[in-house]
Amino acid sequence: MAIDRDSWQVPAMPKPRSGKDADESAGSRRKVTGALGGSLLFDQPQHAQLKADILAFVAPGPPLAIEVGFDHGITLLANARTFPDWRWLGVEIRRKHVEAVRDNAPDNCLPLRLDARTLFSALLPDACVDRVDILFPTPVLKGHHMLVTDGFVADLRRVLKPGGVVFWMTDVQGLHNWMTTCFSGWDERKTPPRAPDLSRRERVCRRDGLPVWSACLSPKMQPNLL
Ligand SMILES: C[S@@+](CC[C@H](N)C(=O)[O-])C[C@H]1O[C@@H](n2cnc3c(N)ncnc32)[C@H](O)[C@@H]1O
Repeated sequence: MAIDRDSWQVPAMPKPRSGKDADESAGSRRKVTGALGGSLLFDQPQHAQLKADILAFVAPGPPLAIEVGFDHGITLLANARTFPDWRWLGVEIRRKHVEAVRDNAPDNCLPLRLDARTLFSALLPDACVDRVDILFPTPVLKGHHMLVTDGFVADLRRVLKPGGVVFWMTDVQGLHNWMTTCFSGWDERKTPPRAPDLSRRERVCRRDGLPVWSACLSPKMQPNLL
């Protein structure tokens, strides 16, 4: 179904469940029912190797950036080649895209077929990420497909290193407003350096003269860390 970007509104969210499943369980590992089986998938032995590969890639070392929803991988691959001193982990749910990008990925780049909500809630250790790019997230029509929720923001806060940033771009003003609300209280930062290549959606916006909203934010430092 074609989505009207001008009139898009946040869909009704499913009621949060109680206890550890609830979105508001900030700080603890949140269980999510993601598009590809959700966070409980990684409790199963057959997925242990993927979990180990992810943990090895994000282990302490060079700075770590994550791109959410890399689609055809234009920006993920361009950033990985332009900034070889960084590690670039990308997540995307469309299998064919992931397979194609994986074939072209340099050593500092790990493209994965994974729901970003599962990655951030269940797989990444605390304070391991320097930067998260969310470029043109999908303006979904069902609440249970929403990427950015209060719970997702709590997960991002948990996995970011002190000073780490979240950078987003969108051509959907309603989504920008929603994300701004979810991230309220975070501090504004300068847009991080990027390879010159535009993402697929960014090219469309440039070609059609569509407005684009963006933000780069970092969690407010805890007073005891200042
Ligand atoms: C609107 S497209 C934008 C693609 C690209 N970032 C760009 O700027 O052109 C959103 C992408 O996010 C992917 N996606 C949606 N929900 C996701 C999720 N929960 N985890 C990972 N990728 C997701 C979609 O499959 C799609 O490729």
